[in-house]
Amino acid sequence: ALNRSYSTKAQKHTDRSYRYVQPRASYKVAILGAGGGIGQPLALLIKMSPLVSALNLYDIANVKGVAADLSHCNTPSQVADFTGASELANCLKDVNVVVIPAGVPRKPGMTRDDLFNINANIVKTLVEAVADNCPDAFIHIISNPVNSTVPIAAEVLKQKGVYDPKKLFGVTTLDVVRANTFVAQKKNLKLIDVDVPVIGGHAGITILPLLSKTKPAVTFTDEEVEELTVRIQNAGTEVVEAKAGAGSATLSMAYAAARFVESSLRALDGDSDVYECSYIQSELTELPFFASRIKLGKNGVEAVISSELQGLTEYEQKALDALKPELKASIEKGVAFVQKQP
Ligand code: NAI
Repeated sequence: ALNRSYSTKAQKHTDRSYRYVQPRASYKVAILGAGGGIGQPLALLIKMSPLVSALNLYDIANVKGVAADLSHCNTPSQVADFTGASELANCLKDVNVVVIPAGVPRKPGMTRDDLFNINANIVKTLVEAVADNCPDAFIHIISNPVNSTVPIAAEVLKQKGVYDPKKLFGVTTLDVVRANTFVAQKKNLKLIDVDVPVIGGHAGITILPLLSKTKPAVTFTDEEVEELTVRIQNAGTEVVEAKAGAGSATLSMAYAAARFVESSLRALDGDSDVYECSYIQSELTELPFFASRIKLGKNGVEAVISSELQGLTEYEQKALDALKPELKASIEKGVAFVQKQP
C-alpha cells in the first residue's frame, strides 16, 4: 500500500467532493480566528464541504459579517458566529474538528519565532477553552511558530488532563502543497500526480522535503535538489516579501488547511485510506514532536509512516541532522512557556 500516492488521492478526493452539495455526513467544525486573512477563505472552503453540518466561526472581532455573508451560500452547513471570550465556550460545544489560525502573521524581516510572544498566549488561551468544551475534538494548529505552538497546546491539554496526542496536529500541509507545485513545475509533471513528503517542522531549515521520495519517481540533479529544497523552505518568506507588510500566506494556506480538514473528516467518517503529513507528538526520531506522513483514522493518528525516513540521500540525512537542534529548541521553548506559568 505504501507505493500509492497518498496525498494526491486526498487532493483528488477533495477536488471532487467540493462539487457535491448533498450532505453525506454531519460533522461540526470550528475556526478560531475566523475573521482573519486565513480564517475567511478557509471558512469559505469548509462551507463547501459535504461532510460538514455546522460551521462555527470565532474571532475577537469582525466575524459577524463573515458569517452572515457565508451563510447565504446554498451548501448544507449552518454557519454561526461567536465574538469574544464570552462566546467561545458555546462556539466549541460538540465540535469534532477545531482549526486555529488565530494570531499575528509575519511582516518582512521577521522569522516565525518572532511571533512567539503574542501567539503563544493566544494559542494557550484558545486550547484551554478547547480542553474545557470539546476535549475529544481533533485540534489543527496553524498559528505560528507551529514548531512551538503545538508543544504549547500539548502542555495545556496535559495540565487539563485531557491530552490525546493522536488528536493534536500542527498543520504543515502548505509545505507539501508548495513542494508538489514546485516539483511539478520544475519537472513538467502533471500536478495532480505529484506527491512529495515533507518532514521535520514548519520553519526555515526545519522544513525538509524528501525529494528522493517524490511520487511518481523522478530524478533530480544535485543543483535541482538544492534549489527546490531552499525554495520550499523559503516559500513563506517569498509571500511575506511580495505582500510587503500586509501579512503572510493566506489563500494557499486556506487551501492547504481545508485539505487537512477534509482529510480529517473523511477519516472520522470511516475512510480507511487517508494519509497526510503533519507535525505531531512522535517517536520517529529522538525529538518529542516531528512532522512526517501519518495515517488518519477515526481516533486521529492511526499510524506514523516510518518507512519514508529510511534510505534517505546523503543530502537529506545531513539536512535532517542539521534541523534537529533548531527544532528541539523550539519545542523546549514552547514547553517552558506553559510550565513556567503560575
Ligand atoms: P490575520 O492577522 O489576518 O488573522 C488573524 C486573526 O486572528 C484575526 O482575525 C484576529 O482578530 C484573530 N485573533 C487574534 N487574537 C485572537 C484571539 N485571542 N482569539 C481569537 N482570534 C484572535 O493573520 P493570518 O494571515 O490569518 O495568519 C494567522 C496565523 O497563521 C499567523 O500566526 C501566521 O503566522 C500563521 N500561518 C501559518 C501557516 C502554516 O503553514 N501553518 C501559514 C501562514 C500563516
